[in-house]
Amino acid sequence: MSDSSQYQTLSTKHLLGIKYNTSDDIKLILETATEFKQVINRPIKKVPSLRDITIANMFFENSTRTKLSFELAEKRLSADVINFSSSGSSVKKGETLLDTVNNILSMKIDMVVMRHPSPGAHMFLSKHVDCNIINAGDGTHEHPTQALLDAYSMQEQVGDLRGKNIVIIGDIKHSRVALSNIFCLKKLGANVKVCGPPTLIPPNIKHLGVDVEYDLDKALAWCDVANVLRIQLERQNISYIPSLREYALYFGVNKERIDRLDKQIVIMHPGPINRGVEITSAVADSEHSIILDQVENGVAVRMAVLYLLARTKQH
Ligand code: CP
Repeated sequence: MSDSSQYQTLSTKHLLGIKYNTSDDIKLILETATEFKQVINRPIKKVPSLRDITIANMFFENSTRTKLSFELAEKRLSADVINFSSSGSSVKKGETLLDTVNNILSMKIDMVVMRHPSPGAHMFLSKHVDCNIINAGDGTHEHPTQALLDAYSMQEQVGDLRGKNIVIIGDIKHSRVALSNIFCLKKLGANVKVCGPPTLIPPNIKHLGVDVEYDLDKALAWCDVANVLRIQLERQNISYIPSLREYALYFGVNKERIDRLDKQIVIMHPGPINRGVEITSAVADSEHSIILDQVENGVAVRMAVLYLLARTKQH
């Protein structure tokens, strides 16, 4: 690692949410990720930075990208890795979260990466166990590493995010990606708007320093980067939209809308995509889209988070 990131540490022992981290923390993670991105593009992609560190990946909710990305990041850093998934575990027999984690920690674990459906589950754990906790998504609350990899990917495209216009489109109400993105982008000095149907935008969202736009075409014309979110049908216990067809008509990002703009914008999506609902294949697979770059950058950003948090133990 370079001299600059070798001696700096994060202000927190855990990554519970972007809300709890400083803008200096975020910048340090993004700078460190740049160094790890070089590492994972070398013929020998592995470094010994986390040798003798053991990490438990605990997923109480489904995941493709985040789970694989963390596991790969850990292995690239030479950590020992164990994986836990709630399906097929003793959670199904009624074991509590704290008992489950304490049993796993008794096997001498240094870090826990966890996805859990309950907002605040990681905060709760951090008060009861002695290891680094990394939030890989807690219900509708935060998904900090997604926001960090999104910010990293945006910076690659448009440079310093200060003063850049970023719109987050879609189901803001149920999205942990939206909340973490808002905290992260505001801390990096970006201008942030949210756009979606009124039923899917929390009434107090302006208190976070963002503007609201209900007209997708105006939002696209304003932005440098559009981060398109998935409609989270699994988190909606009532119907917030008349139909997916109507949603796609008013809030779907499609080629016609992009072609009408008089400038290039960057299109992002955290995945998984509902093709034909919030975004069409013509846009998701176009030259405007950096969706797969986001996934690539996720490994480098997660390596940076793991490396920097492991260092907090040594100080
Ligand atoms: N973006 C994201 O969190 O994807 P997964 O649910 O597949 O991890």
